[in-house]
Amino acid sequence: MSRRVEIVEMAARDGLQNEKAIIPAADKIALIDRLSDCGFRRIEATSFVSPKWVPQLADGAEVMAGIARRPGVSYAALVPNMKGYEAAKTAGVDEVAVFLSASEGFSRANLNCSIAESIERARPVAEAAKADGIPLRGYVSCVVQCPYDGPVEPSAVARVTRQLLDLGCHEVSLGDTIGRARPEEVAAMLAVVTAVAAPQRLAGHFHDTGGMALDNIRVALDHGLAVFDASVGGLGGCPYAPGARGNVDTLAVADMLAAEGFKTGLDREKLASAAAFARRITGKIA
Ligand code: HMG
Ligand code: MG
Repeated sequence: MSRRVEIVEMAARDGLQNEKAIIPAADKIALIDRLSDCGFRRIEATSFVSPKWVPQLADGAEVMAGIARRPGVSYAALVPNMKGYEAAKTAGVDEVAVFLSASEGFSRANLNCSIAESIERARPVAEAAKADGIPLRGYVSCVVQCPYDGPVEPSAVARVTRQLLDLGCHEVSLGDTIGRARPEEVAAMLAVVTAVAAPQRLAGHFHDTGGMALDNIRVALDHGLAVFDASVGGLGGCPYAPGARGNVDTLAVADMLAAEGFKTGLDREKLASAAAFARRITGKIA
């Protein structure tokens, strides 16, 4: 029997957050509705962060209210603090995600605090999510390289991953934020991280600046990971990671996995059509 691999769709959040021109909420809703029809189990729909920091996603509540929720699909949002958590809960998200960095430089740039402070900010979010019965995901950024501090030690990634799991995250997504990781670096990082976290509790989140994201996913599969974040149209990027390109393209990941005998449950034609729509609303050639 072929092994099942889950792709978590990022286009509506990571894919759009770095777009300079504000995209109307109606277009974001139409994108998510198309994605809902593709066979994803989880779609990251938006974030509830400071609109001063990420103006593009200031309409998270409107987007969540406007989408046609498909039964069996979980709609998630990033939250950086309790204010974001409360807004996400009011908007009715199915899963919240806290995010922090393995490197101090990116933590300062993205969250305006140290790694230790970011853990303390995530703690009440984790407690509230547990009390409210809302599943909690965690992200670790800069798992190989940081745009400010350079190479990141695998032990630093393992430390924060463990802390996120101990806080109550059911899964931690490991982010190659600037998308320049090489497969041997990913292998070295995963060897250390999987010593403290079961691969079933980990996901891979590869940006694709260097064109090696698919190879990095293969390495992660070899280490037992079976959940990968990707974005239709290859959209994506963090405003606080200069030079970083998009997430790995969902269609490319789905094709690679299918060719290697894995099942994703995704509909290729619908994915291609959602990708064309995503490129259109972001002003890219379809
Ligand atoms: P700060 O300026 O230190 O915080 O930012 P603050 O508490 O002083 O708040 C500043 C203002 O924002 C205040 O408003 C707050 O009320 C408001 P004012 O009084 O000035 O009018 N505010 C909020 N408003 C709405 N929702 C909120 C919220 N929080 C504060 N939740 C803060 C600290 C964490 C808020 C800020 O740094 C922030 O929002 N950062 C988020 C940056 C971000 O979203 N980055 C992209 C996502 S991470 C990513 O892409 C990586 C990932 O894909 C994985 C990977 O690739 O590595 C996940
Ligand atoms: Mg990202």
